[in-house]
Amino acid sequence: MKALILSGGHGTRLRPITHSQQKQLIPIANKPVLFYAIEDVIEAGAEEIGIIVGPNKDQVMETVESREWDAKIEFIVQGEPAGLAHTILISEDFLGDDDFIMYLGDNVIKGGILKHSIKFRESGPDSLVLLTEVEDPQRFGVADLDETGRVKRLVEKPKVPPSNYALVGIYFFKPSIIEACKSIKPSWRNELEITDAIQWLLDCGHRVEASIVDGWWKDTGKAEDILEANRLILDEMKPKNEGVLKGSRVFGRAVIGKGSVIDNSEIKGPCILGEGCKIVDSYIGPYTSINDNCTIEGTEIEDSVIMEGCSISNAGRIMESLIGKNVNISENGRRPSGHRFITGDSSEIML
Ligand code: G1P
Repeated sequence: MKALILSGGHGTRLRPITHSQQKQLIPIANKPVLFYAIEDVIEAGAEEIGIIVGPNKDQVMETVESREWDAKIEFIVQGEPAGLAHTILISEDFLGDDDFIMYLGDNVIKGGILKHSIKFRESGPDSLVLLTEVEDPQRFGVADLDETGRVKRLVEKPKVPPSNYALVGIYFFKPSIIEACKSIKPSWRNELEITDAIQWLLDCGHRVEASIVDGWWKDTGKAEDILEANRLILDEMKPKNEGVLKGSRVFGRAVIGKGSVIDNSEIKGPCILGEGCKIVDSYIGPYTSINDNCTIEGTEIEDSVIMEGCSISNAGRIMESLIGKNVNISENGRRPSGHRFITGDSSEIML
């Protein structure tokens, strides 16, 4: 089996972070979102993985290649984001005649996809789609199911949803999907929708089955989703301390990376601190991920994701924040006092 993982797109809802960083590389519990997808497809049996790259492709390739993987990985460049079904068309050579998993690289799912992969292999439909109940189905592709749970119809972002079952961005396909993708027309948003291609399979009498996701699933398209996914992953993390504690206390499940020094501070898990961090006179509270080489002094941080190389000092209490790489936050310390900002386009600041 092969896998196609999507790691393109502009990530406009995550600006300003995505001005300089591909959205699938944003870390959740200090690991790029994309890595969760790669690990899941490998566990589910994929031996060859095609990663679709677009803007920031070098960054994605470099990050993926910085680690050894138990599968062959190749990169497929998508010139323009023209829809999920379009990524299948540009991957025809890579896919050949094999069954494959398609996985949106900004999706995270509890417990991986092994059991769905087994169901796909045992049952052998043309497509197996993953569904989950949501409160706002209008934002997703939605499935209409019959009394026995079989898929009758799929609609992309319906105004009047036929059910609350949203299509999770993880799909299993037989090669028949390639013809489906060739047969559909672009949607109102001018994209070749994978939902329409699966509907084409249904219209042609092919078998499409559904598998319900029983744990949580997150599409990390917005800052709030990143923070929520971060909480969910941290909730399941095992504690491990490889750092040095000086006059500090650690409560709950905390992961502290090599070379990190915690000085006169309080750490309350679940949280993760990367390698080479310096935490001085500070409080790091639950649901916080602090990436490598950050320095935090005289500050309280809770429920936040801080990317690598940040320096934060005497900044009061920081909460529910998503802070990019190498950001410097410090107290003014001068007169007249006041806030000073040098921020990128589309930044969000709440005082
Ligand atoms: C895409 C799919 C949609 C699916 C969603 C899951 O939506 O088109 O059917 O429910 O991913 O994340 P998009 O993110 O392109 O709006």
